[in-house]
Amino acid sequence: MSRLDLLGRLSRRLPTHVRGQLDAWREAGEVISHVRDPKVAAALGPSGVRGLLLHRGKQGRPTHVPASHSAHFDWTYPHDHPEMADLYRRAKAGQWDGDDLPWHIDVDPENPEVLLLPEDFVDKAHAEAVGIRLTDQEWLRFSHSMTAWMLSQFLHGEQGALFAAAQVTEAVQFFDGKLYGGTQVMDEARHVEVFLRYLESKMGRLYQVNDNLFVIIDALMADGRWDMKFLGMQIMVEGLALGAFGMLYKVTEEPLLRTMLGQIIQDEARHVHYGVVALRDHIRDELSEAERREREDWSFEVALLMRNRFMAYEVYEEWFEHKLTRAQWREMIQAAPGMEQFRTVMFSRLVPNLREIGLLTDRIQPAYRDAGLMRYFDGAAADALSGDQMLAELDAERASEVARGGFRGGAGQFAAK
Ligand SMILES: [Fe+2]
Ligand SMILES: [Fe+2]
Repeated sequence: MSRLDLLGRLSRRLPTHVRGQLDAWREAGEVISHVRDPKVAAALGPSGVRGLLLHRGKQGRPTHVPASHSAHFDWTYPHDHPEMADLYRRAKAGQWDGDDLPWHIDVDPENPEVLLLPEDFVDKAHAEAVGIRLTDQEWLRFSHSMTAWMLSQFLHGEQGALFAAAQVTEAVQFFDGKLYGGTQVMDEARHVEVFLRYLESKMGRLYQVNDNLFVIIDALMADGRWDMKFLGMQIMVEGLALGAFGMLYKVTEEPLLRTMLGQIIQDEARHVHYGVVALRDHIRDELSEAERREREDWSFEVALLMRNRFMAYEVYEEWFEHKLTRAQWREMIQAAPGMEQFRTVMFSRLVPNLREIGLLTDRIQPAYRDAGLMRYFDGAAADALSGDQMLAELDAERASEVARGGFRGGAGQFAAK
């Protein structure tokens, strides 16, 4: 009998919460030991320990993350980057006030007439097969929990984005980028404001930060190199956010949430555009091949972390800890059609951006191919895709899904909205 089989047998005799903790440690070990590049392991490892083993984001009190970077001053104020200057102009014109969203809309998160998430977000037949039997009302409550969990993670990601945008504004070498960065700081503050307001006033709950998201945020806060902060935040986390916002914008029936996400997507499209422009020039002109390779490996590891690890365990602990193992839950969430949509939208945004900034060369492509991510390779990168285009694409996909009778089995009500 192998050691793993033996451990499996032994762990089946343990109480559920101990078994869950062992599973969480096993997963954490897998994340850290999977990283092959020692430089990448050194950059991600300490954050992995703080997030996955010590649960620093979950201690119910403020977290102090050490941050060090050098501020780049330029007293000659060069007009050094016309594309960033243009983004700055567009960002000024695109400012909006969170108070102007239609907050008067009465949101009942468990109203079967206005679904937060489509009925097939989770495959109910699969859920039943692993022993989950819920009434219709319980499914609505579950979907309330899942939506609040996702929005809570968006909010925590936005807090990270706010701080990262401020740090990058200091550290970046392009002067036009600094002015643009000032608008992004304001955008992220507004995103924190509106997600928090929605959670507090409409969802009535806030979930703690997911450990894997904490690891990514911690790693890029602690890294002194501005381009690593940028890669982590503007390309990876913002790419993830755009995917998640886009998925929810596409499927939700709740009109306030949809309006809010539409506005935020416009801002985020500019942020990722800025990330692509700044990193493409920096990676091409400033970095050695060894430095470029390190970033290529780092972004692949973070992409895997994002693909495999957002499993909503916080919802599992609330709902099913005593009925299912973490492995059964993981299997159900991985197979959920809603999560599949989320991964598709996310990677169709992220992969073309990595290609565009020079971090998806022939050297790493086999790894992406093995992970099933190369099918997104030919998509449009953020510098060729405006927020309006993204929203139009999502609206078209939503319309064709409705026409095919998707989301709620062909009910006309969805199409009428
Ligand atoms: Fe944001
Ligand atoms: Fe952003």
